[in-house]
Amino acid sequence: MLSGIQPSGDVHLGNYVGALRNWADMQDDYDAFYCIVDLHALTLPWEPARLPGRTVQTAQILMASGIDPERATLFVQSHVPEHSELCWILNCIATMGELNRMVQFKEKTRSKAQDSASVGLFDYPVLQVADILIYDADVVPVGEDQRQHVELTRNIAQRFNNRFGETFVVPEVAVPKLGAKIYDLQEPTNKMSKTAESPRGTVMVFDEPDVIERKIKRAVTDPQSNVRFDPEHKPGVSNLLTILAVATGKAPEELAESYTEYGPLKADTAAALIEFLRPVRERYRELAEDPGETERILKLGAEKAQGVAGATLARVKDAVGLLPRA
Ligand code: AMP
Ligand code: TRP
Repeated sequence: MLSGIQPSGDVHLGNYVGALRNWADMQDDYDAFYCIVDLHALTLPWEPARLPGRTVQTAQILMASGIDPERATLFVQSHVPEHSELCWILNCIATMGELNRMVQFKEKTRSKAQDSASVGLFDYPVLQVADILIYDADVVPVGEDQRQHVELTRNIAQRFNNRFGETFVVPEVAVPKLGAKIYDLQEPTNKMSKTAESPRGTVMVFDEPDVIERKIKRAVTDPQSNVRFDPEHKPGVSNLLTILAVATGKAPEELAESYTEYGPLKADTAAALIEFLRPVRERYRELAEDPGETERILKLGAEKAQGVAGATLARVKDAVGLLPRA
């Protein structure tokens, strides 16, 4: 199994619920690889001075979320240059047409002219395909927004296998049953994201309890004051019920029956969410005290990852006919 996350430092509730918490759950059932995708972070404007710290911080958040580097392989994408090399070969298999259909690319270029977007942003999905295929991943656990990129991975793996012989494992996507898409609290029809217009709509894992409480209490609902789990007609209320359900382990439809008004629903959701995130925040504080230890873990992770990645890349080069170095 493989998954990845961008090194943005602090992560939001959507990342935690849609991805991180399942990564920790799945590490016992799979040979798990978790990659901090720092090369992907170069596809939009970035701050060079802050990127190394954010990369370490993201690794610490993954560990605080329960990922155990003794069981899973935790590493930084740029430490394993084989990803980039495989990306080049796959660039020659992927087509302009299929990349043009990628929703994430369209969303990230909506506000700007496509002409000024970097080639890296357009090519982002192919690097992701390389991340996945280089570990022979059977399963890729991600949030709903990444489904299309895993679908692309399957298409490229199959195309490659048809042309050059069985080389890649064709992976399956694993999207959580509940919470695969957490919505913005202020704009409940948009996904929760770090780049949202207002930070009030995004709960960060490191938000203090009073901040979480304020954000939940001010969450946008709708004028008909009845509580029902109905994402299509009541997106704001349904998002709150999803968050409460994830935090309590109950079903959102069942929880809805216990409420008639929004006030108590919000109060309970805030309280449950604060407790749900508390252990992550506390474990993170301990880990943050020793960045040297995190860097040591990432070094070991990169060595382990590189062993697997190198073998796959050798197989690929052979399949496409690149002359081995004597
Ligand atoms: P990113 O921060 O974009 O690197 O995303 C890391 C992981 O979080 C990916 O698996 C995403 O699918 C997942 N994710 C991001 N936003 C959300 C959201 N609003 N709801 C659920 N999952 C999300
Ligand atoms: N594109 C993913 C995201 O934004 C991050 C990512 C990069 C990823 N490489 C990956 C996810 C490989 C899963 C597998 O969330």
